[in-house]
Amino acid sequence: MKVLVVGGGGREHAIIRKLSESPKVEKIYCAPGNGGISCDAECVAINAMNKEKMVTFAKDNHIDFVVVTPDDPLADGMVDIMEEAGVPAFGPTARAAIIESSKVFSKDLMKKYGIPTANYEVFGDSDAALAFIQEHQTFPVVVKADGLALGKGVIIAVDKNEAENAIRSIMEDKIFGQSGNQIVIEEFMTGPEVSVLAFTDGKTVKPMVSSKDHKRALDNDKGLNTGGMGTVSPNPYYTDEIAQECMKTIFLPTIDAMNQEGRPFKGCLYFGLMLTSNGPKVIEYNCRFGDPETQVVLPRLQSDLLEIMMAVRNECLEGITIEWSNEAAACVIMASGGYPGKYEKGCEITGLNSKGQIDDVIIYHAGTKKENGKFLTNGGRVLGITAIDGTLESALKKAYDAVSNICFKNAHYRTDIGK
Ligand code: AMP
Ligand code: GLY
Repeated sequence: MKVLVVGGGGREHAIIRKLSESPKVEKIYCAPGNGGISCDAECVAINAMNKEKMVTFAKDNHIDFVVVTPDDPLADGMVDIMEEAGVPAFGPTARAAIIESSKVFSKDLMKKYGIPTANYEVFGDSDAALAFIQEHQTFPVVVKADGLALGKGVIIAVDKNEAENAIRSIMEDKIFGQSGNQIVIEEFMTGPEVSVLAFTDGKTVKPMVSSKDHKRALDNDKGLNTGGMGTVSPNPYYTDEIAQECMKTIFLPTIDAMNQEGRPFKGCLYFGLMLTSNGPKVIEYNCRFGDPETQVVLPRLQSDLLEIMMAVRNECLEGITIEWSNEAAACVIMASGGYPGKYEKGCEITGLNSKGQIDDVIIYHAGTKKENGKFLTNGGRVLGITAIDGTLESALKKAYDAVSNICFKNAHYRTDIGK
């Protein structure tokens, strides 16, 4: 089969490397891809948001199956347009992707169907939100832009003043554009965070192995929120007992709720959970594989990813057995200095072989380009150095050993992933 993967980050690289293990896969294209991906797939210079060009490419090149993974094209209906054109595609429709693209939708869904989450209020104008905060007594509170905001739309305000600033900057200054037309103000929860990605065809839900992201830019969870600076799998806090509870109180009820709403979800549903003293609660849903969670989850997958994705799309997931390795995986993100703020691009990366790899680990490329045989930085998150081994400690050691052999100007990484 000829497969087209839409996107071009570390997550897509991990998906492509796993898909290429499938005996069914004859050729993989990636649009737009990146420098490292170009060693494993044929990259096509089409922007991930360009639906018309993407469909034309898929038709002209007789693509058998399309995998759409980034949030923006999913919310914009990339899967819908592929399916309408007769090209089978993995991922939710725009109607279902709203579970991520509108926090107001997802919070109201959880409330309506009794799915545990933080208490919240929704506001459509800043005056009402500011009046609410004036009367509010408990801090911190969490202020969230309704729409997509590159993973930056959540502000944890420690006092009244910070909450007012957050409301004004999101709703009046529009720092996240139209995504801030509505906001959610919610209760601050505490507890370990867990990411669970799950395959679902709208009827059956099969959770993947758990993982843990490290969202802050600096060690000891200091600094700004990022897309994710590193991950480990399994998540040591997520016991079998908790997994069973989540299946009963969160995963199945969410799939049922989406069906009840006439928005059946097919694809990978990401549950961002917090294990609070009152049980597991949902922080957020994503309508897609997490990045960099995918980079530690998929290396542990022992079954055929293409077969699973096709079963999701064809609504026959129940009959598929999914096997996982018992090993642990760790991913350390090497980022450009300054990320998630301003950073330089085009710096040469040394220490990688001609395929952009190093022995003993897997290097998932997030923001690189390849020019004249050299790999150059081309994004905030540059590389995800990933190792899989018998224990979390040994996987981390392998990953950090490899990190110390890779160089680029102002490279920044956390030294406490998995600690
Ligand atoms: P999100 O983009 O929704 O995943 O939020 C980013 C991060 O903010 C999460 O990973 C949590 O660490 C934190 N966060 C979001 N909502 C809450 C909440 N209600 N209570 C505590 N922390 C939160
Ligand atoms: N790592 C979190 C996300 O993919 O949004």
